[in-house]
Amino acid sequence: MDMEPTVDVRLTEADLRDALCTDVLLGLSGRRKWLPSKWFYDGQGSKLFEAITELPEYYPTRTERALLRAGADEIAIAASGAAELVELGSGSSEKTRLLLSSLSEHGSLRSYVPLDVSEFALRAAVGWINEEFPRLEIHGVVGDFMSRLDSLPRCGPRIVVLLGGTLGNLVPAERAEFFGRMYDVLEPGEQLMLGVGLVTDPAVMVPAYDDAAGVTAEFNRNILQVVNNRLGADFEPDRFAHVAVWDADNEWIEMRLEATADMTVTIADLDLVIEFAAGEQMRTEISAKFRLTPFHGELAAAGFRPQRCWTDPADRFAVVLARR
Ligand code: AVJ
Repeated sequence: MDMEPTVDVRLTEADLRDALCTDVLLGLSGRRKWLPSKWFYDGQGSKLFEAITELPEYYPTRTERALLRAGADEIAIAASGAAELVELGSGSSEKTRLLLSSLSEHGSLRSYVPLDVSEFALRAAVGWINEEFPRLEIHGVVGDFMSRLDSLPRCGPRIVVLLGGTLGNLVPAERAEFFGRMYDVLEPGEQLMLGVGLVTDPAVMVPAYDDAAGVTAEFNRNILQVVNNRLGADFEPDRFAHVAVWDADNEWIEMRLEATADMTVTIADLDLVIEFAAGEQMRTEISAKFRLTPFHGELAAAGFRPQRCWTDPADRFAVVLARR
């Protein structure tokens, strides 16, 4: 008997608004301005991100997809005990198709739990996956993967996956917190699979975040549109320039928006007025890149045993499988 998929909304529009208020107050009222990158992804931002993944300069998505495709059989064997796949930040779930087919054909996978902050993306993904994998139980969760991950549905041994290099958007302290939460949520023997960008030539990494067609610039500026739409702000996105730099000390790509003139911005719903000086930069994203040996060390320090690792021939991206 086929089961109808479910979508559990644990993060409502009101919750999102409250969280954005807090982040904007915290990020924009201080001296060094910044906004958390998770606010890129409204409907328009998610569309722009999908467009980024098809740019010639943006290698992470296609490199990861190739790794998942080439490694499908090995992944299926290495994760053959999993009955449930929990995907954090599932978005369109496009690359997950590869995992779902190898794990359900060769393994014992029965259930898929995609989790994303975008209810729209989640419902679309749940719909097509249900059509393509009618025998899989699907429980979508609208939520933030840094918040509550306990009490997720559980039907047997799990594998939690975080693909696309999204782990790199967390600063090291948040990353440690994430690993700690995963350690608490998983049972001994359960698995964690991470897709992460590797440190490579800045001449390769920087253009991936500063493409010739300007799609990433538009994606970056869209965060201001999100604040305008949700909080009644009057940012003029076109008066901010896109900046992407490789921070060699921290080993991350940093995206910023630079004010091209002195500006006063009002955020009506917060009764907040913010001044920008010409040339002032606001951080909108970090995208950390990793080196395998220290990364495995970080996992081990968090209580995970690195199990297998797949990398592309140019060593630009890795899919790492670890066991709790
Ligand atoms: C999907 C969050 C991993 O950091 O590479 C793409 C987002 N930012 N271009 C990344 C992104 C600029 C992407 N992640």
